[in-house]
Amino acid sequence: MNEILIQNTTHFFEKTFSSTPGKIVLSPGRINIIGEHIDYNDGYVLPAAIDKIICFAFEKNNSNTSKIVAIDLGDVFEMDLTTEMELTENVWTNYLRGVINQLKTNGFKLEGFNCVFSSNIPVGSGLSSSAALECGFLFGINELFNLNIKPIDIAQMGQKAEHWVGINCGIMDQFSSVMGLENKVIKIDCMTLEFEYHDANFSDYSLVLFDSNVKHSLMTSAYNERRQQCEEGIAIIKKNFSTINSFRDCTESQVISLKDKMSANVFKRSLFAVKEIARVIKACEALDHGNIEVLGQLMYETHEGLSADYEVSCAELDFLVNTLKEEKSVIGSRLMGGGFGGCTINLIKKGEEETIKSKLSKLYLETFGIELKIYEVKISNGTSLYTPN
Ligand code: GLA
Repeated sequence: MNEILIQNTTHFFEKTFSSTPGKIVLSPGRINIIGEHIDYNDGYVLPAAIDKIICFAFEKNNSNTSKIVAIDLGDVFEMDLTTEMELTENVWTNYLRGVINQLKTNGFKLEGFNCVFSSNIPVGSGLSSSAALECGFLFGINELFNLNIKPIDIAQMGQKAEHWVGINCGIMDQFSSVMGLENKVIKIDCMTLEFEYHDANFSDYSLVLFDSNVKHSLMTSAYNERRQQCEEGIAIIKKNFSTINSFRDCTESQVISLKDKMSANVFKRSLFAVKEIARVIKACEALDHGNIEVLGQLMYETHEGLSADYEVSCAELDFLVNTLKEEKSVIGSRLMGGGFGGCTINLIKKGEEETIKSKLSKLYLETFGIELKIYEVKISNGTSLYTPN
């Protein structure tokens, strides 16, 4: 599937600019096994890059402007690289303007280039198409002009570009898009940015994504609000326990002891953060030891927390998870990513996938009148250059 995407992107570039692209870049979306909304709370996360990608084709154009074509949107825009970057109404272009802004802020001198891109990462499904866009674009410019930006810095600059657009996100999405490895999940310590790869071996179970097809329109404001509430929570905790520096030093009972000192929401968010950090550590151990049932149970617990305490679920996502909880062949299910819509990630007994898929699709359509989308993903490499054979 990706071969066709790469071919189409290359041909489109050649037709549009009458030249061959100098660099072709593949930039993946991500899944996250467990560890939600704790990348910005000094937690650990367990994501992986997937085989859904954005393909970019780049070439220098010896000018001071860049012309960028989004093939799938049928849209083009030009940037004068000598002027200051500003946010525009055309939202997708802002992620790229944000990247240019980052490069300028970090003192890089930019020359003009042409770029076309096309994607098979569904947008608004919790698979981080925006991180793939930021990081792939930056990776390409880095390669084209030999800027020597290190992969981790690409991830961090991508994150800052997203902040510039308006979402105060953590590092998980950009990090996993850039650093992914085939058949490995990445345990990222989001406080120190240390990371380790663990085998993505789910034994007798398949990873399947169910897309609620609900687009998370509430996401930006609610996301930033959650982050603020957590900041408020940890500030209260630190004030009361002098030895605590972050949520990871904190126990559930310490949070509970401060219930009266916090607003109801700040209390729930803080409790979730502490519990979720502990779950990721347990989940990673379970994965390493092949205890996939334990991992699945932790995923169900994460969903409960995201729904009841962090309040980032919605009726459709709760329905998808709660329906599958009744199925013996599904050992884990939870909403994935920021929430308010998008996908659930599920562990289904091998051989039972088709039965579950058709049962859930039917029930979902009957209940919400919405078609369920289903993605089978392979855990793949992070952002890379593509070299034609
Ligand atoms: C979004 C953000 C990430 C992370 C997740 C929730 O995907 O971009 O940084 O916070 O939500 O885990």
